[in-house]
Formats: sequence, structure tokens, C-alpha cells
Amino acid sequence: MKSWLFFSSSFAFFVFINIPSASSFDGYTSCSNKFNCGEITNVGFPFWGYGRPEGCGYPELNLTCSENVTTIGINGVQYRVLKINQEAEETLTLVRDDYYDKICSPKFGDTKLNSNFDYVSGSVDVKLLYDCTSSSQGGFSCPKGETYGDVAAVLAALPVPPMCKSKVIRIQDATGLGLFSFENVTELEQAVREGFEVKYKVDSAKCDECVGTKGVCGYDWGLSETVCYCPNRSSESRNCSATAEAINNPVLPSAKGTSSEPKQIC
Ligand SMILES: *[C@@H]1O[C@H](CO)[C@@H](O)[C@H](O)[C@H]1NC(C)=O
Ligand SMILES: *[C@@H]1O[C@H](CO)[C@@H](O)[C@H](O)[C@H]1NC(C)=O
Ligand SMILES: *[C@@H]1O[C@H](CO)[C@@H](O)[C@H](O)[C@H]1NC(C)=O
Ligand SMILES: *[C@@H]1O[C@H](CO)[C@@H](O)[C@H](O)[C@H]1NC(C)=O
Ligand SMILES: *[C@@H]1O[C@H](CO)[C@@H](O)[C@H](O)[C@H]1NC(C)=O
Repeated sequence: MKSWLFFSSSFAFFVFINIPSASSFDGYTSCSNKFNCGEITNVGFPFWGYGRPEGCGYPELNLTCSENVTTIGINGVQYRVLKINQEAEETLTLVRDDYYDKICSPKFGDTKLNSNFDYVSGSVDVKLLYDCTSSSQGGFSCPKGETYGDVAAVLAALPVPPMCKSKVIRIQDATGLGLFSFENVTELEQAVREGFEVKYKVDSAKCDECVGTKGVCGYDWGLSETVCYCPNRSSESRNCSATAEAINNPVLPSAKGTSSEPKQIC
């Protein structure tokens, strides 16, 4: 109960007692928790989910963990997250969950990013054509027990013959030329399972300023903006130093990019 109503004989008055809600969101503590799932570890802002409540990340960057497998939904398609690079590149490596170990039983629609992501160069859209009666597409027989009987991979720009079902997927394309030749369905499956890389868009300058003043970044879903949760449990729009002069020991900007970890060059 949030309010109490008192009456006296001469006049009536209201007393509202705002009992601080026990469930009031402690973003600093909650969002200090990192996402850990199998080989994907130590993931923070702008992601949330699986121990990181809603206010810890962008609404669309919702991670799930099941049996050490990390997944994320984008435009109604579930993807396995093979890798998250939060240090320098801000990228994810994704593979469609329905295509991870089967290529002929799609469960979702076309692979299509939303505005939170961009493709990183080195991958290309490909159309999988299923159950084309004409074998002139250069297709393969699907493994037994799958939804469709045959599959062919063609460039996404090509029209779909009327008798075929089609699905747009994304695969790595090191040459950037869209030149593929798959000898058999196993090779096609392997190419799909490698996944593809996307860059996620995040307001990192704002988060860096927050972290630089010992804050923890979060996201205000109502205001649609990054917020800074401070050690004193206040939620600030920029950082955890009331005034620039108030800092006795200025905190240097986070040492991003200067880590001694070797950077992978692909
Ligand atoms: C987050 O993802 C999980 C699993 O995909 C889903 O069940 C849940 O509804 C999602 N939450 C939001 C707010 O999108
Ligand atoms: C998940 O991974 C951990 C260690 O990486 C392992 O101990 C555990 O058995 C795995 N769980 C499942 C369900 O695979
Ligand atoms: C698929 O092709 C590759 C390369 O030509 C070959 O090594 C492999 O044995 C083939 N797999 C099947 C199942 O035919
Ligand atoms: C917490 O710290 C912030 C930043 O220094 C300050 O603006 C805010 O007033 C403080 N809140 C409380 C409740 O002390
Ligand atoms: C923190 O934010 C205030 C404005 O709210 C700004 O004047 C100050 O420069 C910021 N401090 C740092 C360390 O970025």
C-alpha cells in the first residue's frame, strides 16, 4: 500500500507516505554484473539479459544463455553469438540458430539486420533456394529428415524461380566478390556455420565518460538514452562527478585500445 488516508472531525486531509519501494532499481549494482555464458564472458553495456536487467542495455541488445550457447534475436530471427568483441571493434559474430547444424530446415525469415547493427565488410547476402524442381540451379540433396529435399546457394540479387522457396542468409566472403563454389552440401553448411560479423552501434563516448568517473553505464528505455549509474546509487545523464572541479583525483579516460592483448588480424 502506498498511501494512507486520515480523517479528523474538523477537517479532512491526506497524508501520502511514499514508502521507498524495496524493488527500486539499483542500476549501479545490477549493471556491474557481467554477462557470462560458455565461452562468451565479461560482457557489459550495451548488452543486457541473463543476470543483467533491462536498464543495463539497449532494448534490442538482449542476450540469452542456454546450455552455454548465447543467442540474440534480430528482426524475429534467432542467432547464436559465436564471439563478442567489446574491446576495440564492437562487433559480434553471428550464425543463424536454425542453420547452425542444419541447412534445410529453416525456422525463421530472411536474415536482415535492424538499425542497431551494420555488416562488417567481408560477408555477403546469399539466397538459398529450396525444392526447385529444376536441377539446373546446381543444387544439392538435403540430408535426410529435413524440411526440404534440395538446396542451392545463389547470389541474392538473382530472381527466385516460381517453384522454389527462398531464404536470404549472410555468409563470409573473404574476396568481397561474391564468388563461391560449393562442391557439396557439407561445404555449404560449413560456410554458413562460420557465421558473419556485424558491428553494433553504441554511444561509446558517453559510456567512456561515465566509466571514467567510476560509473556503470546503462540505458534509459523511456528517454532512449545512455545513463550513468553512480556509486552513490544516483542515476546521472552524463557522469558521476558533480562538477569538474569536485574531482580531487581526476580519473583518466579508460585505457581503451592500449591493452597489451594481441589484436587479431583477419
Ligand atoms: C529477451 O530475449 C528473450 C529470449 O529471446 C525473450 O524471451 C524476451 O522476451 C526478450 N525480452 C525483451 C524485452 O525483448
Ligand atoms: C558449460 O561450460 C562449463 C565450463 O565452460 C561446463 O563446466 C559446463 O558443464 C557446461 N554446461 C553445459 C550444459 O554444457
Ligand atoms: C565435399 O567436398 C569436399 C571438397 O571437395 C570433400 O573433401 C568432402 O569429402 C565432400 N563431402 C562429401 C560429404 O561429399
Ligand atoms: C551522487 O553523485 C552525483 C555525481 O557526483 C551527484 O550529482 C548526486 O547529487 C549524488 N546523489 C546523492 C544522492 O548523493
Ligand atoms: C561531467 O559532467 C559535467 C556536466 O554534467 C561536465 O561539466 C564535466 O566536465 C564532466 N566530467 C567529466 C570527467 O567528463
